[in-house]
Amino acid sequence: MKEMLKRLNIKYPIIQGGMGNVSAPSLVASVSEAGGLGTIGCGTMEPKVVDRLILETKDRTDKPFALNIPLSVNAHSKELMDLAIQHDIKVVSLSAGNPNPYISILKEKGITVMAVVASVGHATKAEAAGADLLVAEGFEAAGINSPVELTTFTLVPQICKHVSIPVVAAGGIADGYGLAAALMLGASGVQMGTRFIATEEAPYHALYKEKVLQATELSTIVLGRPHGQVRRVLKGVYSEKLLQVESSLDDKAYREHTSEHQHQLGAVKGDDTNGFMNSGQIAGLIDDLPTVKDLIKSMMNTARQQLDKKRKEISALTE
Ligand SMILES: Cc1cc2nc3c(=O)[nH]c(=O)nc-3n(C[C@H](O)[C@H](O)[C@H](O)COP(=O)(O)O)c2cc1C
Repeated sequence: MKEMLKRLNIKYPIIQGGMGNVSAPSLVASVSEAGGLGTIGCGTMEPKVVDRLILETKDRTDKPFALNIPLSVNAHSKELMDLAIQHDIKVVSLSAGNPNPYISILKEKGITVMAVVASVGHATKAEAAGADLLVAEGFEAAGINSPVELTTFTLVPQICKHVSIPVVAAGGIADGYGLAAALMLGASGVQMGTRFIATEEAPYHALYKEKVLQATELSTIVLGRPHGQVRRVLKGVYSEKLLQVESSLDDKAYREHTSEHQHQLGAVKGDDTNGFMNSGQIAGLIDDLPTVKDLIKSMMNTARQQLDKKRKEISALTE
């Protein structure tokens, strides 16, 4: 954990993952201010839009924050890397594509590179290409996931066994119990998305937050399996209709139906009929709307207490 905290220059091992075109400086800065690492997701945005988000985040915090570049999703990945260099962003996370050709370019400029991976093979290749940290993301996570569909609980220890750089667990973590469990699996910290939707500072539509608060363990569905681009979203009018017809669409039409336009309609406008809302399976556990600061504080307290309690319990067992 120490190495991860040092590399990212943060106080607590909690990262807010990139959130596509709905990434918001208010949330990113709140996470960094609270001692975690906020991340601006570039989604499909043009570099000039991301430039504005970076400037706005810098106005709100002087703490480190990251830039997430989803490689296969954004057509301007190279320019976004230049933007990160230009703005002296200390950490870049690369997801949704092969990060390996870009890692050395960023590292030469002193940037810490996190690669989001979902299999042991991708993890070892990213390590060999020079990644500083890995985010091991399980299939229970919100948003675009890997079609290999491995869960966090199986993925994290297997990746930890095969690499020597710090691994951050993502997917299915929303509280201090999840943080403690991830650490016990060998992770150095956690990355969360769904939990941060239901926070005071997240500028998403009230309906999106309400749907996360009301969600059960069965409230998400997986779109895109026939098209090789798997995405976990909340059940809703639009997403359930799309699930029914997706196999009759060609890949291009499917992607047009799951573009950042529909993402923004769902997440920001609360339009459940024409847009979708990304969410992970852990939404069923979330039932409050704390500030980011209170959330991080309570996660750290719970993790400390639980690890201590379980250590005592297991020590008391006779051999
Ligand atoms: C609204 C939303 C948008 C997301 N967009 C991205 C993205 O653009 N790039 C990315 O790497 N991950 C994206 N994710 C995934 C998160 O960064 C994070 O890894 C994931 O949500 C962790 O799993 P959890 O939802 O169970 O906490 C998104 C998640 C959410 C909730």
